[in-house]
Amino acid sequence: MQWTEKYRPFHLDDVAGNQDIIGELKKYVKLTVYDLPNLLFYGDPGLGKTSSAYSFCYDGKHDFEHINSAQLNGKDDMDKFVHILGSVGAGMSNFEITEDKDDEHTTEGMILIFDKAEMLTKQAQNVLEKALESRTDAKVIFIANDISKFTEPMLTRFTAFEFEPLKDEEIEMLLIKIAKKENLQVPDRTMRKIIEDAKGIPRSAVTALQKYWIITKH
Ligand SMILES: Nc1ncnc2c1ncn2[C@@H]1O[C@H](COP(=O)(O)OP(=O)(O)O)[C@@H](O)[C@H]1O
Ligand SMILES: [Mg+2]
Repeated sequence: MQWTEKYRPFHLDDVAGNQDIIGELKKYVKLTVYDLPNLLFYGDPGLGKTSSAYSFCYDGKHDFEHINSAQLNGKDDMDKFVHILGSVGAGMSNFEITEDKDDEHTTEGMILIFDKAEMLTKQAQNVLEKALESRTDAKVIFIANDISKFTEPMLTRFTAFEFEPLKDEEIEMLLIKIAKKENLQVPDRTMRKIIEDAKGIPRSAVTALQKYWIITKH
């Protein structure tokens, strides 16, 4: 099994680095979906954006759906997405909020995680924008490497968090934690090389550590 999957964080406390963002997200975790703004996590690949989105939903005990935006651009996929949004609360469809105050169905709401959100077409963004306008029980977390592809009206709807590369000490702490769990002794020189090569990207660091483990233990 790939260590990047084996050691994927599922709680905000397990996410390495970007502690200012994580600290803020821990406050957002306390909000209901109703009060939550739509969130945008952006930054280079491998910094923990997807993991943070999952962790956020788990810590907040929110229902969520993970959507690969790259697969949402055909008509069929768009219909499927509209269906997902429409099925969040009973009696709601076509993005309308039900007016029926007596509706027994009280929904806790849902979070839709749009991974690779920059792959959404303009048309898909328009549909989504309308949907976000009329729904208070469905919020989205956009995950993107490049935010230049988003329309201005779309961007204004999000509270954005920019993920930065980790400090070497943060990468080292993560590697030490994993090495300990794997009973793996890593010479200082190797550790330094892995950290240097990772350039602040935890995914690269974890992958390199597993490579070292494969070479030395097999
Ligand atoms: N901040 C982090 N803390 C701990 N592990 C991380 C972190 N960022 C990345 N990883 C490792 O890399 C893998 C991929 O990270 P991911 O959350 O998909 O990054 P992104 O969405 O920014 O590309 C994770 O499963 C985990 O093993
Ligand atoms: Mg990701």
